[in-house]
Parts: sequence; structure tokens; C-alpha cells
Amino acid sequence: MPKLLHLIVACAENRVMGRGGRLPWRIPEDTTFFHDQTAGQIVVLGRVCYETWPRVALDGRRPIVITRNRSLANDRVRVAASLADALTIAETLPGDIYICGGARIYAETLALDRPMRLHLTLVHADVEGDTFFPEWRHLTWREITRRTGADANFRYTFFELARE
Ligand SMILES: NC(=O)c1ccc[n+]([C@@H]2O[C@H](COP(=O)([O-])OP(=O)(O)OC[C@H]3O[C@@H](n4cnc5c(N)ncnc54)[C@H](OP(=O)(O)O)[C@@H]3O)[C@@H](O)[C@H]2O)c1
Repeated sequence: MPKLLHLIVACAENRVMGRGGRLPWRIPEDTTFFHDQTAGQIVVLGRVCYETWPRVALDGRRPIVITRNRSLANDRVRVAASLADALTIAETLPGDIYICGGARIYAETLALDRPMRLHLTLVHADVEGDTFFPEWRHLTWREITRRTGADANFRYTFFELARE
């Protein structure tokens, strides 16, 4: 049995999740949630995400970076040429698989016909940006948990959704 896939993302109501290679907001509660959830796990991420998260290998994470640039590999960071390659490597490692984006990696994962969990922080605002989480609402999800939060700037909801 292949491992269950976990996607983790924070996106706005208009699906914006990035701007200029960065997050379009600073939401400390979501940052903490993301770090806690992925600590000790396998994290699959694109090259841009990797470049903006140099400490990805801390806290026991096992990063697999999807890129054509094999020279990014080092003793703590594995490199894969495609999502399929990354998932093959991930099966050989201990821990759960967390898909951390970007956009194409999320889209290819959502298109897979296999069980997955979506850890979605939905930010209740329309936000300006240039990178979008793919449409997920037309797919059939079972809600596992939901928890609301807020700070001075945003209201948001943490969802855990499942596709069997
Ligand atoms: N809010 C959130 O939860 C969240 C999550 C993730 C990302 N983001 C935001 O999204 C932006 C980054 O995402 P992005 O989509 O622009 O970039 P990305 O996926 O991190 O990086 C793009 C690069 O990764 C490689 N790549 C990605 N998908 C691939 C695939 N399927 N097959 C082969 N190679 C692939 C290619 O690298 P090479 O060019 O090196 O070959 C590509 O140029 C940032 O603004 C970031 O803050 C936000």
C-alpha cells in the first residue's frame, strides 16, 4: 500500500497563496501550524519554495525538492525530476508525505487517483497575488476537522479534508 498523501496549504478565498515568490501574508498561527505539522516528516516541494525555506531540513524534516537542477542535492536534501520521482523516493523514507507546493505540484497531486488529506488554511479574504492553489472545491472531500482562528489582520479556518 503506498503511503497516504498529505497536502498542506494556506490560501485565500480567491485561491491566492503566493506573491513575488513569498507568502502574501504573515499569519503566525498558520506558520506555527505548518511547522508543527511537517516536523519529522517527508516534505515534497518545488525549487522556488525550497529557495525561500532554507531551513527546511530542520526539525527532522526530510525534504525532496522537485527541480531539473540536480546540484541542489546535499546530504540532507534529496532532489527529484518530477512528482512521480519524488513520490517513489518518499516511499523509501520514514515518515508521512507532506506535499508543500507550489502550484504545479499541488495540481499534479490533486489529479492523482489515490487517497489524500488536505490540510487547508482558508484565509477569509481576497488577497492580491500571482500564485494560486488549484481549484479543489469541485472534488469530493469529507471534512475531518475544522477550527477557526483570527489575528489583527485576517480571519481564517483550519480544515482537514479527506479524499478516499
Ligand atoms: N500559502 C501556501 O501555503 C504556499 C504553499 C506553497 C507555495 N506558496 C507560494 O507559492 C510560490 C511558489 O510556488 P511556485 O508554484 O511559484 O513554485 P515552486 O513549485 O515552488 O517552484 C517551481 C519550480 O519547481 C520545479 N517544479 C515545480 N513543479 C514541477 C513539476 N511538476 N515537475 C518538475 N519540476 C517542477 C521547477 O524547478 P526548476 O526550474 O529548478 O526545474 C519549477 O521552476 C511562492 O510565492 C510561495 O510563497 C504558498
